[in-house]
Amino acid sequence: MSIGTANSTPAIAVRDLHKSFGKNEVLTGIDFHVDQGEVVCVIGPSGSGKSTLLRCVNRLEEPTSGTILIEGVDITDPETDLAAVRTRIGIVFQQFNLFPHLTVLRNLTLAQRRVKGRSKAEAEEVARRNLEKVGMAGRESAYPAQLSGGQQQRIAIARALSMDPDMMLFDEPTSALDPELVGDVLEVMRTLANEGMTMMVVTHEMGFAREVGDRLVFMDGGVVVEQGDPVEVLSNPQETRTRGFLSKVL
Ligand SMILES: Nc1ncnc2c1ncn2[C@@H]1O[C@H](COP(=O)(O)OP(=O)(O)OP(=O)(O)O)[C@@H](O)[C@H]1O
Ligand SMILES: [Mg+2]
Repeated sequence: MSIGTANSTPAIAVRDLHKSFGKNEVLTGIDFHVDQGEVVCVIGPSGSGKSTLLRCVNRLEEPTSGTILIEGVDITDPETDLAAVRTRIGIVFQQFNLFPHLTVLRNLTLAQRRVKGRSKAEAEEVARRNLEKVGMAGRESAYPAQLSGGQQQRIAIARALSMDPDMMLFDEPTSALDPELVGDVLEVMRTLANEGMTMMVVTHEMGFAREVGDRLVFMDGGVVVEQGDPVEVLSNPQETRTRGFLSKVL
C-alpha cells in the first residue's frame, strides 16, 4: 500500500470476534492478527472454528460482534466498500472451485477482466506469469478435469495471485489431495512465503507450519488457546489443550 505507515499496520487485525450460528457460538472472542509479510499458520481440532475465522476475515461469514481490520480498514463498518477490500485478499480453499467448463487460461483471466477491468492481452499476460510461478506453464488450454487435484490447486493459487492480492488466505489447501500431490502445492506456498507474501494458512501440515510459518496459532473451542514461534509451540506447548491436540497429530 502506498501509505507511509502501512508497514506497521497489521494486514489482518481481529478483535474480540464472536460468531454464532443460531444458538451455537462457534467463535467466542477471538483476538488474532497477521502482520504484513507474516506467515501465520492456524491449527486446531475439527470444529474449533478455524474455517469460520478465516471466512469472517473476508466477511464470507457475517461476524456476530467484534472488529476486523484489513490493512487498517474496518470491514465490519457498513460504510466500508467491502468489494474493494476483498480484491486485496486472495483465498484458496480445500476444494479448488475452478470453473469446469472453462480452460485454465479462462479460469485465470475471467475475474481479472470483470473485476480488475484488464484487457484480454493484459489478463493473459498476468495469467501466464502466474502459471509459470506455480509450475503450470504450458497447460493454458487444459480443462480442470484433465488435471490432477494438485495441479488444479496450483491453478487455483495462480488464479488468486492473478488478482494481485496483498494477502493470501488458505483453508486446508492440501487436505483433499492424494499424499503424493501435497508436496508440489506446499512448494508453491513456500515460494510465495519466501517472496514475502502475507499468508494465513489453516493447515494440518505440521512440517509446513514448522518450516515456513512465522507464527503458529492453536485454536480450540472458538478461542485462540496458544500461539507463538512454531518450533516453540510444537516442541514445547504451554497449554494442556495444545499438548493434547499435538499428541494426536504429531
Ligand atoms: N454455515 C454454518 N451453519 C451452521 N453451523 C456452522 C456453519 N459453518 C460452521 N458451522 C459450525 O461451526 C463450528 C466450527 O466450524 P468450522 O468449519 O469453523 O471448524 P474448523 O475448525 O474449520 O473444522 P475442520 O478442521 O473440520 O475444518 C462447527 O461446529 C460447525 O458445525
Ligand atoms: Mg475447516
